Formats: sequence, structure tokens, C-alpha cells
Amino acid sequence: MDKAKRTAIIAGNWKMNKTPKEATALLNAIAPLVADADCEVIACVPYVDLAAAIEATEGTNIKIGAENCHWAESGAFTGEISTGMLKEIGVEYVVLGHSERRQYFGETDETVNKRTKAALAAGLKPIVCVGELLWERECNITEEVIARQIKLDLWDVTEEELKNVVIAYEPVWAIGTGKTATADQAEEVCAFIRAQLAKLYNQEAADAVTIQYGGSMNDGNADELLSKVNVDGGLIGGASLVAEKFAAIVKAASK
Ligand code: 13P
Repeated sequence: MDKAKRTAIIAGNWKMNKTPKEATALLNAIAPLVADADCEVIACVPYVDLAAAIEATEGTNIKIGAENCHWAESGAFTGEISTGMLKEIGVEYVVLGHSERRQYFGETDETVNKRTKAALAAGLKPIVCVGELLWERECNITEEVIARQIKLDLWDVTEEELKNVVIAYEPVWAIGTGKTATADQAEEVCAFIRAQLAKLYNQEAADAVTIQYGGSMNDGNADELLSKVNVDGGLIGGASLVAEKFAAIVKAASK
């Protein structure tokens, strides 16, 4: 399958930014700029912004995602949010295993896997994030790290379920640092991820998976990154908070 047949997806990951009112204003600014996009456009927003974001994007081509979810249906998990809660209000996507969750909130491949399974079972589409630390790249173990994350994070995910999984390759050293992976570095690892998926499933299943790059992607470098055959989209942090910048990335993916 060639790249043109995969769904290109540009997703904003707002992280801990924007109040509900600010979210409405930002989405109102983004919507007309991306109305004719030839790719999928998603905004992943803080939990308390979800309802406002869903209302603001009604009738537009912007889909809404959460930034995490718990794996249990309900129960004594103070501060957590279930997949059912997200589904009921109209959330379609959920970012899982982001490096900031791994780094600051004790997320492990085991918990990413549990969340991924739960999200899929609930009919949410997980955007599963993988990526190596700078130290790991310097020690030349990027492929080992990525192979392990892919295998563990997708453990017990069926081939049918894989159709609803998006993978985001986010080298941790490139996140929020202004230090982007070169297009060749991004392509190399995204191709490696696809090869791992082919090993775990089969080539056809692997070829159908959308693999995004994330890490300081912006309106200036999106064209080059997205021109690579295995880079099917982007997971955008900082630049997704500025309507014009985000729209320019969407435009780059629509070519
Ligand atoms: P930046 O685009 O701010 O580097 O963030 C990338 C990211 O972590 C998206 O999930």
C-alpha cells in the first residue's frame, strides 16, 4: 500500500493549555482555516475542555480527542476518567503513552497497553506515543527501545483492532525543545515502526497504519517531514495552540 492510501492525520496535543472558553475561541479560529483539509484534523484537549471543544466543532471537520484515559470501566480511581465517560460526550480519539505521562506520571508500557486495550474496546481510537530519550539515541539503542514499546504497548491488540490505532513517533529529545528530528531521522524510525508492525501482524496490516511524527513540528518544517513516505501525519504540541500555524501544518498534509 502506498502512502496516498493511508489516512493522513494532523492532531494537536494541547497538553495543559487553554481553559474551556479559550478552547472555544481557538477552535473557532482554527475551523474556517482547515475547512477544506484533505486530511483528518484532530484537537486533543484537556478533560475539562472536551465538552466545550465538542460543541465548538459541531458541523466542522475537526474531531476531538482526550489526552489520556483510565483502563477500568469505573471504580475507586480518584482523579481518573474512564473510556465510557469520554465516549458518552462524543470524544473520538485519545492520546496514550505520551512521554510526558511516562516521565512525570509513572506511565509504563504495561499501563499504556491496558489503556490502549480499554480505549479500543470502548470504540475510541488511541494515538499511541512511542519514542526514545536522547541518552538512548546516543547509546544507539533507538530501535531496541521502539521495538519494545511497540510490542508491549500493542500486546494483545488484534489485527482488527489495529485498524483503529494511530502510532505517534515522538523522540523525547525533540519535544518542546525546538530541536526537530531531521526528516530522514523521522522517516527512518517511522519505517522501522512499520516493519515491527509487519512482524507482529503482517505487511498489509502494517501498511494501513497511520504513523505520525511529533516533536517540534511546525509550519516551517512540516512540508519536509510529511514528504517522507512513512510519515503519515503529525502530533503537534506548541504549534497547535496558534491557529495559523496549526492550519499551515494541516495544509502541508493536504498536498
Ligand atoms: P511540541 O510540538 O511542542 O514539540 O510537542 C510535541 C508533542 O509532544 C506532541 O504530543
